[in-house]
Amino acid sequence: MVKEKTAEKKEFKMYEMSEMAALMEQMYVDNMRLKERITSGDTIGNFPQHFLKIHASAMTDESENDAFFKEQAAKFLKAQELIYKDSVNAKMHFNDAVSSCVKCHEQKCEGPIPRIKKLYIK
Ligand code: HEC
Repeated sequence: MVKEKTAEKKEFKMYEMSEMAALMEQMYVDNMRLKERITSGDTIGNFPQHFLKIHASAMTDESENDAFFKEQAAKFLKAQELIYKDSVNAKMHFNDAVSSCVKCHEQKCEGPIPRIKKLYIK
């Protein structure tokens, strides 16, 4: 029993993410759900305030938090906010927001791009 617990702890450590990575995963899930709501004509709700944490979350590599990142983060949040402010055009604004995810990722972290592109509403 004791041994099992130690193993569990170790495993958790191995998969521990930065605050920013965890926020990104949350944004991914939130936007996947939002996509479903938009495509099914459901109500859209309110801008998820925790997205604002993109400005201050601790990153795996803090040197990535440069002028480009800050500028792209602001652009992304603007696009994401428009989904809620102008929900008549939610689909268009949603796809713009996804494009700003991709735009930052092209410079910063290419790995998740194929996954992010799955968010697009066709
Ligand atoms: C301003 C730049 C920027 C924007 C905008 C951005 N990302 Fe990221 N993303 C990053 C960086 C940098 C990392 C690496 C974070 C780290 O490791 O600390 C990352 C990491 C990720 C990861 C991997 C997390 C992990 O498991 O390690 C996913 C998935 C992700 N982003 C999805 C998204 C989605 C979806 C959006 C839009 C809703 C988005 N990102 C918007 C810069 C950005």
